[in-house]
Amino acid sequence: MPFYSSLLALCCLLWACTFGNAAATQKRAVPPGFVTTNGRSFELDGKPFAFVGANAYWLPLLTTERDVDFTMQQIQGAGVKVVRIWAFNAINATELPTALETDLTYYQASMMLDAETYTHLRTQVWNSSEWTVNDGPQGLQRLDYVVSSAEKHDLKVILTFGNNWAAYGGIELYINWIYGAENATHDIFFTDPAIIASYQRYIKTIVERYQDSSTVFAWELVNEARCTGDILSAGPNCVPGSNTLKTWYQQQSDFVRGLDANHMITAGGEGQFFWAHPEEYWFDGSLVSDYNFNGQAGEDFDGDLQLPNLDFAVYHLYPQSWYPELDFPGSNFSVEDWGLGWITAAKANKPVVIEEFGLSGLQNKTDIYPSWVQHALDTGHAIMPWQFGVLGLTEDGGNRLIQYTDQIFRGVRCNFCNTIYPNQTQVWDIFTKAAKIQDERSG
Ligand SMILES: *[C@@H]1O[C@H](CO)[C@@H](O)[C@H](O)[C@H]1NC(C)=O
Ligand SMILES: *[C@@H]1O[C@H](CO)[C@@H](O)[C@H](O)[C@H]1NC(C)=O
Ligand SMILES: *[C@@H]1O[C@H](CO)[C@@H](O)[C@H](O)[C@H]1NC(C)=O
Ligand SMILES: *[C@@H]1O[C@H](CO)[C@@H](O)[C@H](O)[C@H]1NC(C)=O
Ligand SMILES: *[C@@H]1O[C@H](CO)[C@@H](O)[C@H](O)[C@H]1NC(C)=O
Ligand SMILES: *[C@@H]1O[C@H](CO)[C@@H](O)[C@H](O)[C@H]1NC(C)=O
Repeated sequence: MPFYSSLLALCCLLWACTFGNAAATQKRAVPPGFVTTNGRSFELDGKPFAFVGANAYWLPLLTTERDVDFTMQQIQGAGVKVVRIWAFNAINATELPTALETDLTYYQASMMLDAETYTHLRTQVWNSSEWTVNDGPQGLQRLDYVVSSAEKHDLKVILTFGNNWAAYGGIELYINWIYGAENATHDIFFTDPAIIASYQRYIKTIVERYQDSSTVFAWELVNEARCTGDILSAGPNCVPGSNTLKTWYQQQSDFVRGLDANHMITAGGEGQFFWAHPEEYWFDGSLVSDYNFNGQAGEDFDGDLQLPNLDFAVYHLYPQSWYPELDFPGSNFSVEDWGLGWITAAKANKPVVIEEFGLSGLQNKTDIYPSWVQHALDTGHAIMPWQFGVLGLTEDGGNRLIQYTDQIFRGVRCNFCNTIYPNQTQVWDIFTKAAKIQDERSG
């Protein structure tokens, strides 16, 4: 039986939504120009702040200021207000020579360097389990430029501290560097004191660098935290009910709040639930307990939001890659309906952002985004598609190699080919129209 198809399933959703969350946090007084929360809304200088945002993690990988400014200009032109950017970029020793040769942006590298080389590179290196920061022109100065360009274009940025996945130096590099990957499980990242201390030192580096900037919309603890990664698997201690991620979210959000009383903090997860009665669906003759509802991912959307220093909720939406069984021949379980159900489920007594979503194929986007976007607007969620691309970058003819086989292709890496470009006007217009609606709702 497809889930979300029955009235019963819908009732379950509404029940969890109504009773699953803690009360809203108290409104915090912040300096002028800082976005904060008020109940279920964002607020800027005492007025509601509703928005369409853009994912563009790759901005600090651009090496020319012209291309950064040009991208920001396009994003601003679409009516976007918030841009989500990776504030992590770590490489290991084997990658360093190629990074230097190709001008790859990096903020952390694992390497034993002699003092002279270190002074020359001013690199954030790992030396045993220690590192120093790359605040040089191939490092954090690129992120500085992106933040300053955002400010010039009246945009705010979400800065993400790390990645559950291997791309651009995921959290498993910490495991590798400190313990070696042999016998390690992915989830020790969330529990091991030495790893946590190391991560917090990185967080502190970023927070202290941009702490006074009202251009920062929020800090994000990690992109898409799960018990498992794409290389290492989950250990026996990261299971439904273990609260491994919740405990880590609590420690890290408290830590960031201790450094910075003003900026908002969010988890960065995909929004998975840990429901007492998770959704089930029929697939190929079997009844399947739904991974996104049964706590296996490690997240507990409702429980995590009880943490006082997580200011707002985010969730991601990729039914095509999460459920290859959707639109299975003979199935009545559709990509579009699954997305609508996921948007309905993501309820909180705090502001909510559909922080990433994507579909492959122009026709799929044209067919399905209007109903998802409308439902998100009706539900009061801020909207950030994965992801915005631009045409007309100059460097390497707009096809810059950003990491080995990874390329910014005609404006952006075609992650899963979810990228949308301004000349795909039917799709682009869905977001510019939504941006206008959000603007009218704002002060
Ligand atoms: C899908 O099929 C199941 C089983 O036949 C049925 O219970 C359900 O109502 C159908 N859903 C839709 C959306 O048609
Ligand atoms: C270092 O990075 C390269 C490129 O991503 C990867 O192939 C290699 O396995 C990594 N080595 C270690 C020790 O993590
Ligand atoms: C890294 O460690 C080695 C060995 O302990 C030492 O010789 C070297 O000076 C250290 N480099 C830096 C940059 O601290
Ligand atoms: C990994 O586990 C095996 C089997 O228990 C053990 O022999 C080996 O020493 C372990 N390796 C490390 C690095 O802990
Ligand atoms: C459109 O979506 C369907 C259903 O997920 C998928 O099978 C198809 O490959 C997608 N089209 C493209 C061009 O990606
Ligand atoms: C958008 O522009 C790119 C690059 O010029 C081109 O390859 C693509 O076909 C265009 N798409 C549309 C829908 O016009």
